[in-house]
Amino acid sequence: MISIKDKVFVPYITAHSIQQRVAEIGAEISKDFKEDCPILIGVLNGSFIFLSDLAKSISIPIEISFIKISSYSGTNSTGSIRNILGLDVNLNNRSVVIVEDIIDTGLSMKHLVEMIEKETPKRIAIASLLLKPDALVELLKVNYIGFEIPNKFVVGYGMDYDGFGRNLPELYQLK
Ligand code: IMP
Ligand code: MG
Repeated sequence: MISIKDKVFVPYITAHSIQQRVAEIGAEISKDFKEDCPILIGVLNGSFIFLSDLAKSISIPIEISFIKISSYSGTNSTGSIRNILGLDVNLNNRSVVIVEDIIDTGLSMKHLVEMIEKETPKRIAIASLLLKPDALVELLKVNYIGFEIPNKFVVGYGMDYDGFGRNLPELYQLK
């Protein structure tokens, strides 16, 4: 059990299970994008650890970039998405893999996909470590999902509660 600010969290998914699943996704992406030189776009801040481990488990040439958006406040999705740091690469005719920590309502991802589609890429795929199917309000095709989880707040492995908990190597769930 750990405490972050006013909340208590219990262990949920071990570092070992995460590493195993991330390696599997890396192998799938290596196969699916062979000879395609995809560009991985990590969604900051939450995806930085997942993207780092995922990139290391991909065996084909890739490029890496980041985009920063914000929609969460405390433990709730605000529904309105703010772009904080925009795209700095040319995506025209490129294969893009959007890398997210977690898809909750799907509003952020929908916004991102629409933004990236305007750049006329060849193909867009979505990789998210976690997906909360019961919270999803947008129709999204998520190509690579690490774990489907219940609609409960989690921290660790890049994900935060009010700025803290991102450095935990495993996942914790709100008690
Ligand atoms: P969405 O727009 O509701 O899908 O929310 C997406 C973003 O909110 C994710 O990329 C996370 O950064 C954050 N988020 C959603 N659920 C959680 C959670 O359980 N813990 C920590 N962050 C979360
Ligand atoms: Mg995120």
